[in-house]
Amino acid sequence: MTVASTRKLAVEEIRKDFPILATTARGRPLVYLDNAATTLKPKSVVEAVQRHLLLGASNVHRGVHYLSEKATADFEASREKVRSFINAREKAEIIFTAGTTAGINLVAHSYGSLLKAGDEIIISAMEHHSNIVPWQMLCERQGLTLRVAPVNDRGELDLTALEQLINQKTRLVAIVAVSNALGTINPIKHIIDLAHSHDVPVLLDAAQAVAHISLDVQALDVDFLAFSSHKLFGPTGLGVLYGRRELLDRMPPFLGGGDMIRSVTFAKTTYADLPAKFEAGTPHIAGVIGLGAAIDYVNHVGLAAIAAAEDELLHYGTRCLSEIPGLRMIGTAEHKTSILGFVLDDIHPHDIGTLLDQEGIAIRAGHHCTQPLMDRFGVPATARASLAFYNTKSEIDTLVQAILKVQRLFA
Ligand SMILES: Cc1ncc(COP(=O)(O)O)c(C=O)c1O
Repeated sequence: MTVASTRKLAVEEIRKDFPILATTARGRPLVYLDNAATTLKPKSVVEAVQRHLLLGASNVHRGVHYLSEKATADFEASREKVRSFINAREKAEIIFTAGTTAGINLVAHSYGSLLKAGDEIIISAMEHHSNIVPWQMLCERQGLTLRVAPVNDRGELDLTALEQLINQKTRLVAIVAVSNALGTINPIKHIIDLAHSHDVPVLLDAAQAVAHISLDVQALDVDFLAFSSHKLFGPTGLGVLYGRRELLDRMPPFLGGGDMIRSVTFAKTTYADLPAKFEAGTPHIAGVIGLGAAIDYVNHVGLAAIAAAEDELLHYGTRCLSEIPGLRMIGTAEHKTSILGFVLDDIHPHDIGTLLDQEGIAIRAGHHCTQPLMDRFGVPATARASLAFYNTKSEIDTLVQAILKVQRLFA
């Protein structure tokens, strides 16, 4: 693992922690610019997962033997790492899920079951489908109404419009902390304070935020926060839902099964305490242990240093791309993370993605699971280069040259 100061990262050293960065794609050196889709995994994460699977594989919580006790201790140690990483009050408020999507669905089902016809949920126009569809399904099931706060041409949330949407019937504001399509960093503390001044709880979709900005759930005073391990350099198929205890205690379980019960008879089942109440079935044990290693890695490199390095890349990339004639940036908010969304005149983003792939460059092209946002910007799709702290300016130069080549091909 690489030691780095909080001021300047030793990127070439850091890149050695991610062996995939030294590989090729289509015969060219890999340029991985699809970090918003999933982040790469450092060796320490893979080693932690491998150690568990090869030498410690066992089920958690129920065992009476050595291996099970060890797996349980490692699993719970990771929960503590997550608690500390987002500064939750207690471990019981950290629920392991299958990902951000699963966490939001849990809240939509469980907290949602406490709501009634006529109640309202507010989201924004820049939400990922996973923070739209679960609420639409809840609205259909129970007769609620979904309200959508608009975004401006730069891709910033209209806070005045958001405030006007809050009324006596509002039961939740569910908002993305950082947009995966635009990179916009929303003023989450302001939004939470605003909603709380009307006694409305807030759910943050932190899928894109968690690897880029420090999230302190107590300082934010947020009620729910969901993120995915795989966007924080950890394994896929795993996520975290933070919930404020007062709310989680009032909410019924979502999935029923093993591990979430206190006692079962055919007459009546009583439920376990938090967090087990929301963790039915055998969890993703290896994944949780890997996520713990990912958090250790991020803490070691330092989130502040990561953010500073990515900010520098973002500004360099924005400047370089903006100079390309016929390129329009989609997402030009004043406060952004390292996402470069763009379209080219007369060239479909899928063609851009396919041709860049021939150069060994991995970007994403499509609607990014934000179809309503694409409609808002009047485009069917965008090309998206998303950067992480292990990327370099020279990789951005390669991207720019490849885009110019695409334009020449289509000229
Ligand atoms: C902003 C945002 N929310 C939610 C999700 C869903 O995450 P997952 O597919 O890991 O559940 C994503 C994934 O891209 C995302 O970018």
